Amino acid sequence: MESLFSAMIVLLLVSFSCFTSSEALTSSNGNITIKWDLMTWTPDGYVAVVSAYNYQKQRSIPSPGWKMSWGWTRKEVIWSMVGARTTKQGDCSMFKGNIPHSCINKPTVVDLPPKTPYNQQIANCCKGGVLKPGLESAFQISVGKAGTTVKTVRMPVNFMFTAPKQQYLCGPTKNVRPTTFISADKRRMTRALMTWNIICVFNKAT
Ligand SMILES: *[C@@H]1O[C@H](CO)[C@@H](O)[C@H](O)[C@H]1NC(C)=O
Repeated sequence: MESLFSAMIVLLLVSFSCFTSSEALTSSNGNITIKWDLMTWTPDGYVAVVSAYNYQKQRSIPSPGWKMSWGWTRKEVIWSMVGARTTKQGDCSMFKGNIPHSCINKPTVVDLPPKTPYNQQIANCCKGGVLKPGLESAFQISVGKAGTTVKTVRMPVNFMFTAPKQQYLCGPTKNVRPTTFISADKRRMTRALMTWNIICVFNKAT
């Protein structure tokens, strides 16, 4: 009886702390929304455009800029990136011929500098990690050894978003309604294969 009672207390505390942590992730001061739009499947994975929107009215991310990291849930690798890069390649020794950009289980990505050659950029990339209110930073990522259908692909987890002297807390990765894109002449709409997003909120100055 006593153990049942303490189990109930523990459950109550756990549900309370879950409630407060998700509560903390909505902030009247805005948020950073990270979005993964899967654009095409490849023979062993997919190509996605990843963007981070600064929906904070007041807070800018200054130089030397943001860093983003996450965990893969399987043996995913990053074949290539455009507009950003990982800080470490990791152990790619099992690959012959094509060598991935990163084989790390928990990669950290940083932006490229503004002087990056145009043929190595995508829209909204390459701001040296500086992210002003109302703007976005984006990069393209080609992921291998990942699933190749909406059923088999796995979302990256445990996102961290860091900025100089600013600490953010990120919520879980969510599968959301696929983003739609409108052509320049507004006559055709296309749709991402899948869209995932992650909300991060400012926690404290460090
Ligand atoms: C993040 O900010 C956007 C833009 O203000 C808002 O639409 C969205 O609801 C916010 N999300 C959360 C979880 O606070």
